[in-house]
Amino acid sequence: MEKKKTFTLINDQTGESWIFPVAEGTQGPGAIDIRTLFARTGHLTLDPGFTSTASCASAITFIDGEKGILQHRGYDIRDLAEHSTFLEVAYALLYGDLPNAEEKRVFEKDITYHTMVHEQIHTFFRGFRRDAHPMAIMCGVAGALSAFYHDSLDIWDPRQREISAHRLIAKIPTLAAMSLKYMLGQPFVYPRNDLNYAENFLHMCFAVPAETYRPSAALAKAMDKILILHADHEQNASTSTVRLAGSSQANPFACIASGIASLWGPAHGGANQSVLEMLKQIGHKNNIPKFLAKAKDKDDPFRLMGFGHRVYKNYDPRAAVLKGSCDAVLDELGVEDPMLDLARELERIALEDDYFIKRKLFPNVDFYSGIILKAMGFPSEMFTVLFAVARTVGWISQWKEMIEEPNHRIGRPRQVYTGSAFRPVVPLRERSGAKKEGPPIL
Ligand code: ACO
Repeated sequence: MEKKKTFTLINDQTGESWIFPVAEGTQGPGAIDIRTLFARTGHLTLDPGFTSTASCASAITFIDGEKGILQHRGYDIRDLAEHSTFLEVAYALLYGDLPNAEEKRVFEKDITYHTMVHEQIHTFFRGFRRDAHPMAIMCGVAGALSAFYHDSLDIWDPRQREISAHRLIAKIPTLAAMSLKYMLGQPFVYPRNDLNYAENFLHMCFAVPAETYRPSAALAKAMDKILILHADHEQNASTSTVRLAGSSQANPFACIASGIASLWGPAHGGANQSVLEMLKQIGHKNNIPKFLAKAKDKDDPFRLMGFGHRVYKNYDPRAAVLKGSCDAVLDELGVEDPMLDLARELERIALEDDYFIKRKLFPNVDFYSGIILKAMGFPSEMFTVLFAVARTVGWISQWKEMIEEPNHRIGRPRQVYTGSAFRPVVPLRERSGAKKEGPPIL
């Protein structure tokens, strides 16, 4: 029998040693299981940014960042993008395998059944300013679903968990389209259950009561592919946020709202909007060297948006698929976008630059997605919202996996305290000395 791997920790001052088991995965690096470390050694580990910490064991998504591999439930992302639909991928993320024909039919029916939102939610929307960022609206309305669907909030009931998951996958696109319509000042468009998931989403975004609208098959296919490519990405910032929120037994709608908030940041899902803003700022190929110099300057906060990734030290496989889709979508729409040429040239020059080569900085999924979404007619404020629509599937699958784990505990990281040592409270009249900062000016 193969001996289980262990790892020995030695205190080089006292010579004491402790043996820890190594948790092996099916692919990728194993992890030293330090759950008993504090109890046995009196020490914590320090890993801000979690570069060396596995927060959980998960069977959903595998990434090999060095090789540029992304798999969901063992299926390669390129294969999924080529041969399956977003709802098939959603099924695999939730239940473990791609569905057979009957499972697919039933799942699609279940999701379609939930596409409408409670009519009162329309009133809720009207509380927002018209110029609100749609991600601000999404944070609010996704959490508010828990105020409307009380009958699926018991997280210990498997059927209620499933209904909540189905509701989220079905209703987040409806809410996303409503946030677009609200921003545009157009009437909300009700879902149409005779359309497939991507078609229905495009319909809710772009139809107006005065005209009939039917998205082209090519456009719907491109939308579906974009959704597949963003569906899940193991323990990224927003997914970890969803898991942490869920670990306190918060309801799934509230957890997804926390994921949306985390995704909004420009270092994460907000990068797709920033890429387009950056390309606009660069404006012309001749300006690329100036902006690359800014990106390399440590005293300049400017970064090349859509470049670099915590895990990928190779070409992000999702970016590769999207880059390929760009031409097809622009062709179909008859759009000639000089931004695509600019993006390609920027990529080419950056990939030949020592700074980017040395740090293994490659285009990530956000680099090309904005160009496609813009061509499809989405305003840039909607890019991160579309990411949230797709990622809802990953978030809820990861949440479900965590809740179903028998020994799951509340997530509660520790810290190394660096503040003042103990000191008594001095009565106000006896306190002296200049303050570091004044009170806030209100
Ligand atoms: N432009 C210029 N330099 C960069 C960039 C960039 N886009 N990304 C990383 N670097 C540099 C850093 O300055 C650092 O250099 P140093 O070693 O000389 O100090 C080195 O590369 C490592 O970067 P870190 O910030 O330590 O990498 P980290 O893993 O913490 O950050 C992140 C990853 C946030 C994605 C970063 O690459 C970045 O800010 N990229 C731009 C924003 C972006 O595209 N985000 C989308 C990510 S994908 C997604 O969320 C869907």
